[in-house]
Amino acid sequence: MGCVMMSCSILIVWLLMLRFGVCREALCIPSERETLLKLKRNLTDPLNRLSSWNDASENSNCCEWVGVVCNNVTAHVVELHLNTTPPNFDDYLFDEDPYDEALEAFSRSQFGGKINPCLADLKHLNYLDLSWNVFLGQGKPIPVFFGTMTSLTHMDLFYSGFDGKIPSQIGNLSNLVYLDLRLATYGSIIPSQIGNLSDLRQLGLQGSRSGLAEIFDWLSRLSKLEYLSLEGALLSEAWLHAFHALPSLTNLNLWGCSLPPHYSQPSLLNFSSLLTLDMSYTNYSFSPKWIFGLTKLVSLRLSQNHFQGPIPDDIQNLTLLQNLDLSGNSFTSSIPVVLRNLTSLVKLYLSSNQLEGEIPTSLGNLTSLVKLDLSHNQLKGTIPTFFGNCFL
Ligand SMILES: *[C@@H]1O[C@H](CO)[C@@H](O)[C@H](O)[C@H]1NC(C)=O
Ligand SMILES: *[C@@H]1O[C@H](CO)[C@@H](O)[C@H](O)[C@H]1NC(C)=O
Ligand SMILES: *[C@@H]1O[C@H](CO)[C@@H](O)[C@H](O)[C@H]1NC(C)=O
Ligand SMILES: *[C@@H]1O[C@H](CO)[C@@H](O)[C@H](O)[C@H]1NC(C)=O
Ligand SMILES: *[C@@H]1O[C@H](CO)[C@@H](O)[C@H](O)[C@H]1NC(C)=O
Ligand SMILES: *[C@@H]1O[C@H](CO)[C@@H](O)[C@H](O)[C@H]1NC(C)=O
Ligand SMILES: *[C@@H]1O[C@H](CO)[C@@H](O)[C@H](O)[C@H]1NC(C)=O
Ligand SMILES: *[C@@H]1O[C@H](CO)[C@@H](O)[C@H](O)[C@H]1NC(C)=O
Ligand SMILES: *[C@@H]1O[C@H](CO)[C@@H](O)[C@H](O)[C@H]1NC(C)=O
Repeated sequence: MGCVMMSCSILIVWLLMLRFGVCREALCIPSERETLLKLKRNLTDPLNRLSSWNDASENSNCCEWVGVVCNNVTAHVVELHLNTTPPNFDDYLFDEDPYDEALEAFSRSQFGGKINPCLADLKHLNYLDLSWNVFLGQGKPIPVFFGTMTSLTHMDLFYSGFDGKIPSQIGNLSNLVYLDLRLATYGSIIPSQIGNLSDLRQLGLQGSRSGLAEIFDWLSRLSKLEYLSLEGALLSEAWLHAFHALPSLTNLNLWGCSLPPHYSQPSLLNFSSLLTLDMSYTNYSFSPKWIFGLTKLVSLRLSQNHFQGPIPDDIQNLTLLQNLDLSGNSFTSSIPVVLRNLTSLVKLYLSSNQLEGEIPTSLGNLTSLVKLDLSHNQLKGTIPTFFGNCFL
């Protein structure tokens, strides 16, 4: 009898939990709601995207507000998604006017204004995305109080409007796994305290032309780094050695970086575990042959460099490639027939080179291809019938 009673009460407790605890949506904590309302007051929001953030009683549950995520159990605000989504250039590849229109609509929808330091009162926030906005206008650095939000694991300030010195206090955010400061810190010296973020897996930095001599010192401490983006940095050989000290590195973006003069020596460039490599806009002119030995690559971008001569046949070794961008170089001769071996290709961009001759029919073997750009070359002859399969 006692046993039956007990299991009954366990069942009731369990049902109550279902009703009021686990299944019920989180009901936001009043003080956090106040914090969000304060935060909103200092933001500009031209399209009123945050209209759900208001005092009306039917909107009192801030856990249901746009861009806010609460923990299901504790109801604390744990995520803030205040990013704006830019149009994807790839989607407008052959249509510049609609792209410009989409870009204009995007710029009309960006958040701006100031970030009230009360943001740091959200003590349980672990995800903060402020990317693609115009906070503080131009030329103001990332606020120092950001360095006190130690619960953060994900901080995305890419293209957020901030600009200038990176506060060294960012190095106190020891739980960070993801940190993107690209285009938020142009020309800034990168504080060595970034090397204290030992759990980082993804790091994006805007490179500067100065202050990078000692950078590999802290970089080599980020041993869990998988994704590194260093747009526009002036890179020394020491940097290249530092990349090799990152055992987990699989994605490397060197877009717009200046590379050291001896960069063609393959001994310096053992990137054999890379899955993606972006070396666009680097003015690189040596033979890219060594790159075609990186057989794990899934994405390779080498656009807007000074590569010359035929596209090396070794490119056939990259059989896992899904994206290949060789546009804006000075590649000559014909499109290599061996491209047919790259059967995983989804996007192939060879535009703005000096490629000649006919389009090889073997490209018809690339049955996964969705985007193909061969424009601005000296190709001739008929357009192969396989194109019919590409764009349907
Ligand atoms: C909260 O619940 C949603 C579905 O209702 C689930 O997808 C999510 O993972 C849960 N989050 C947490 C932190 O438990
Ligand atoms: C935010 O706005 C309030 C009133 O609108 C103002 O008093 C306060 O100084 C602003 N805070 C910041 C950080 O700009
Ligand atoms: C945060 O970092 C700064 C400079 O890097 C340091 O002076 C300060 O003591 C740190 N604060 C805390 C709370 O750890
Ligand atoms: C953070 O980095 C600085 C210099 O890079 C170092 O002096 C300090 O001890 C580090 N702090 C922690 C908590 O590791
Ligand atoms: C590449 O060369 C052009 C013209 O010589 C120069 O303006 C540009 O800054 C260079 N880019 C890099 C990444 O070195
Ligand atoms: C390149 O690195 C891999 C491990 O990442 C190693 O096995 C290989 O021997 C290295 N190759 C050269 C040429 O150093
Ligand atoms: C590509 O593969 C061929 C045959 O396996 C090999 O001889 C060649 O050295 C490879 N090219 C590169 C750049 O690794
Ligand atoms: C490319 O394909 C041809 C036949 O279609 C084959 O002989 C060659 O070995 C392939 N190359 C690679 C690197 O797989
Ligand atoms: C490519 O397609 C042709 C037919 O168009 C076929 O004969 C050939 O075997 C294919 N090659 C590969 C490597 O799949």
